[in-house]
Amino acid sequence: MEKRSSFSGKIGFIMAAAGSAVGLGNIWRFPYLAAQYGGGIFLLVYIVLAVTFGFALMTAEIAIGRKTGLSAVEAYGKLHKKWKFLGYLAAIVPIIILPYYSVIGGWVAKYMWAFMSGDAADTAGNIVTSAGAEVSYFESFIAGVGEPIGWFALFLGFTAVVVLFGVEKGIEKVSKIMMPVLIVLSVLIAGYALCMDGAMEGLKYYIVPNFSHFSVKTVLAAMGQLFYSMSLAMGIMITYGSYMKKKDSIESSVRHIEIFDTGIAFLAGLMIIPAIFAVGDPETQLTKGPGLMFIVLPKVFEAMPAGEIVGAAFFVMVLFAALTSSISLMETIVSLFMDKFKMGRKTACVVVIGICILLGLPSSLGNGPLASVKIMGLAFLDFFDFISNSVLMPIVALFTCIFVGYVIKTKTVVDEVEIHNCKFKSKGLFTIVIKYFAPICIVLILATSIVDIIYTLTTGSSWL
Ligand code: TRP
Repeated sequence: MEKRSSFSGKIGFIMAAAGSAVGLGNIWRFPYLAAQYGGGIFLLVYIVLAVTFGFALMTAEIAIGRKTGLSAVEAYGKLHKKWKFLGYLAAIVPIIILPYYSVIGGWVAKYMWAFMSGDAADTAGNIVTSAGAEVSYFESFIAGVGEPIGWFALFLGFTAVVVLFGVEKGIEKVSKIMMPVLIVLSVLIAGYALCMDGAMEGLKYYIVPNFSHFSVKTVLAAMGQLFYSMSLAMGIMITYGSYMKKKDSIESSVRHIEIFDTGIAFLAGLMIIPAIFAVGDPETQLTKGPGLMFIVLPKVFEAMPAGEIVGAAFFVMVLFAALTSSISLMETIVSLFMDKFKMGRKTACVVVIGICILLGLPSSLGNGPLASVKIMGLAFLDFFDFISNSVLMPIVALFTCIFVGYVIKTKTVVDEVEIHNCKFKSKGLFTIVIKYFAPICIVLILATSIVDIIYTLTTGSSWL
């Protein structure tokens, strides 16, 4: 049997796992959710969930991977025959995420191009449509057909070429240089944004929790974001764990990945949220959703000295962060198809591209020609985002907790963490979270949201 290669040392493992975790989730998704769900209170809930849920789930997944040396589907099956289904359930998540991830990746590529080709100033302004209405550059862009689809196709195509020819290593090397540059640039941009007039008001909104903004929806959004951003509840960390060496500490690796991932998300929020208040009209901007970064940042770059260059560099780095994630997402799906359906790499790639086009096209058109088509009141992109983050991932996480807490028992994970005399410092916290805290919270939140969905569908308005 082929021996599974392992990462060279703990740093190698942390970098690889963090490389997969850091992506659009941190830079694009976190800020708009934080803006929408009450700023400081969202941040607080997120951090509390990260050190409890996030920590316990990531530890469990990595330990399961390292113990079995297998990827998700086989790993669950090996530990307990009847639980193979959980691996399959987890595998659906990347399949839903990748298509719309590529749509957003296309938006990033478009903005990078706009900044590089001297159109930076346009991106901060408004455009008058043929009907005479004035809309922002971003809104006019996503309402189109050819352009957003073209950029989506380009992003998806590039990802596919890398996966098809198995040249991930080259991309990883480049992204190792890009990541630190992205961090330095983000600090610079956040620093500048914070000095803009009115930004302090925004900073306050972002970091001071206002409990009157708290709702079940805040917790659901924060939980979904946690899973998404840390690539949890989709089997990914099991695969990463399977490559980890026995002598390296799982617990401290998990802490490092978490701090890294949350740090970058926080920084992205710092670039965007205070700036919302500085560029005006926070009332409408805070709830802008997926377009927030593309609307606010060009305005910051417009005000900034050499903003055009900083902006271009920024979008290049974000594009790379997005590509490493999309490549890893596609690789996961392709290898699953290769194993399960005995396909060759090429066939599997073609099938995955087909699925991405099928699900990605409506997501891309949902802001333009298909804007009137709504599923449960949501546009296609938001619907896929909702189904994966707020429904499937919490369900996978719930099953994972039940599996670890009551089927294979927490001792299995604890033993794996404590191998080679590694002390598991947060053993108590881990056990309580996996057995009681996480499952109860997830059930409560899911039940409330299901009731809310039914209520919304029958009455037309939400009660939360
Ligand atoms: N965590 C990634 C991000 O923040 C997105 C992601 C979700 C991902 N699942 C993944 C990346 C699986 C790689 C593999 O953008």
